[in-house]
Amino acid sequence: MEKPKRYHPLLIALHWLLALLIIFMLLMGLLSLKWMPNNPAKLLPLGFHMATGILILILMLVRIVVRIVKPKPEPATAGNRFLDFIGKLTHYALYLFAILMAISGIGISVQAGLGPIVFGASGAPLPEDFFVYPARYGHGYIAIILIALILLHFGAAMYHQFFRKDRLLSRMGIGKG
Ligand code: HEM
Repeated sequence: MEKPKRYHPLLIALHWLLALLIIFMLLMGLLSLKWMPNNPAKLLPLGFHMATGILILILMLVRIVVRIVKPKPEPATAGNRFLDFIGKLTHYALYLFAILMAISGIGISVQAGLGPIVFGASGAPLPEDFFVYPARYGHGYIAIILIALILLHFGAAMYHQFFRKDRLLSRMGIGKG
């Protein structure tokens, strides 16, 4: 069967939705949540962060299933076997670390008992400092790795689009193939 020229529309929609959500969550965590004192005013933004993180995890899993079952275009090539290998590795790593980001967030929530405080309005105070929980360190380090992978991924897309001029982005719904 002939391979399609672009990814399945559902996969394209999930790609851009997840890109927006993940970048938004990284900025929210790094620029805002991390610096807020753990007082009652933090419950709303934290609840939003936690709920969006769980949504990201669900959408990532849906994305993996759609990617497996729907036909895909030919693997892209950068014209160099080593770069192609790095490209493939980066894609798997992006899936893995986006999922680990959400799992480590859930880890903080479990270790700190955040469910009833944030979503159950138990009235109990937030723990004074999340860094007493090992998962909080994981969440911070995984964020750095995820940002590095996103930059690598973005750089590779730009390399294809503007140096190789192979219109790779059209496979993800941007421009004509
Ligand atoms: C892919 C999804 C997620 C992303 C991209 C994300 C991103 C971030 C980032 C960048 C930080 C700051 C890390 C640092 O600089 O050390 C953070 C903090 C945090 N995140 Fe997430 N997160 C995600 C999912 C979750 C989930 C699912 C939960 C809980 C259910 C969660 C709970 C928290 C908590 C409790 C903090 C600590 C805030 C603080 O230090 O006051 N996150 N997140």
